[in-house]
Parts: sequence; structure tokens; C-alpha cells
Amino acid sequence: MSRVPPTGQSNLRVYDRVGPLYDAVIGPVSRRARDRAVASLRLAPDETLLLVGVGSGLDLPHLPRGVRGLGVDLSDGMLQRARARKEQLGMPNFELREMDAQDLALPDASFDAVYLPLIVTVAPDGPRVLAEAARVAKPGARLVVVDKFWPEERPRSAPVRLASRFLGALATHVDRRFSEIHAGAPHLEVVGDEHLALGGFFRLVTLRKPGS
Ligand SMILES: C[S@@+](CC[C@H](N)C(=O)[O-])C[C@H]1O[C@@H](n2cnc3c(N)ncnc32)[C@H](O)[C@@H]1O
Repeated sequence: MSRVPPTGQSNLRVYDRVGPLYDAVIGPVSRRARDRAVASLRLAPDETLLLVGVGSGLDLPHLPRGVRGLGVDLSDGMLQRARARKEQLGMPNFELREMDAQDLALPDASFDAVYLPLIVTVAPDGPRVLAEAARVAKPGARLVVVDKFWPEERPRSAPVRLASRFLGALATHVDRRFSEIHAGAPHLEVVGDEHLALGGFFRLVTLRKPGS
């Protein structure tokens, strides 16, 4: 029997089922980007990390083994794969929990670094995901966003909007601009913006929460 996602978010039903296919297709093509993203987090040994939308845990092999922190996701199917991967790797200080990225059940200013790979265009309210990440980040924390963003200057035609609504309900939106996501936490300072693939459609954006 299929589990009804607590939020009613339709693409979670898809993520619950596609773990093996997701890993086979996305795993090999995303390794280099994950290496770059984890390097951008600049994690010191005693620091804590929040991984928002941890999925099946494809990032876990790229993290330092002793990393302290938490990975959250709303898909039970994806989390089961992440748990198996964590056990295999041996990451005793890294916890996994079912949690909505749009409404993190976590205290303010808890993490030294926050990583958001392929989540701000997947959750229904991307700006809200960034706002929550900013809230739980400590002053001075680094936040790394990896995702696909529609070019700021390029108009979005009606067919593009329609296709994005359909794809969003299924898996991910493709018409979100980074500026729209950033509007959720405009106090975050953009300190890096690298093009990763597809002519800059995929980007690695590094942000910093003001404070010491
Ligand atoms: C495209 S996958 C990315 C997974 C992983 N970050 C990666 O890079 O492989 C999107 C993930 O976001 C999760 N997700 C979608 N909406 C969410 C929400 N509201 N809260 C938490 N996780 C969510 C999905 O379950 C899925 O695992």
C-alpha cells in the first residue's frame, strides 16, 4: 500500500519508489559536482552539518567519515537507502531523520554548515526551504546550494511554465530562478556562484549567514 506523504506533496510518492533507478542514473553523473560542493562547505573536524533533502545518501561517501550532523528528507523510500549507505560507510555521528525541509523541527542557529543539494527546486516552496536553512544555520555559517536554475535574464514562456508544473508534480521544477529562492533569505550573502553543467543551468551557489 502506498504511503500518503504527510504534506500531500505529489512528487514524494515518486521519490519513494525510484531509489534504485535514481542511484543508477544520477549517482555516476553527479560525483564530481558532489565533490566540489562538499569542498565548498569547508567543514572543520569539530563542525556540524545539516544536509537538507539527503535523499538516498549519494553525498554521504563524499563527506568526512567522522562528520557530525543530520540529514533530513521526507521520502521514506529514499531515507531507507540513505540509512543502508550510512551503515555501510560507518558514519556514527551522522543522524538521518524524516523531516519537512520547509518546516524544520530544529532549533535556531544549530549548524556550522548547511548543504542543500537538489532540494530548493523539488520542494513546493523553495524560498521557504532556504529560509528554514538560514534559520537553523549559526551566524557565520556556510550554506551550499546545488541545483538547476532558470537563467535570470531569459523569459519563461507559457509552455515552459506548464512543463515545469508537470515536472514539479512528478520530480522537480525546472523554471525556478536563483533570485526567487534567495528572496526567502535575502540576508544570506552570496559568496560564490559556479556553473556546473548544461551551460550554467546547474549551479553551485555558496552563501554565508552574516555574523561572527
Ligand atoms: C532530486 S532528489 C535529491 C536527493 C539528494 N539531495 C541528491 O542530491 O541526490 C530530491 C529529494 O528531496 C526530497 N524532498 C522533496 N521534498 C521534500 C521536503 N518537503 N522536505 C524534505 N525532503 C524533500 C525527496 O524525497 C528527494 O529525496
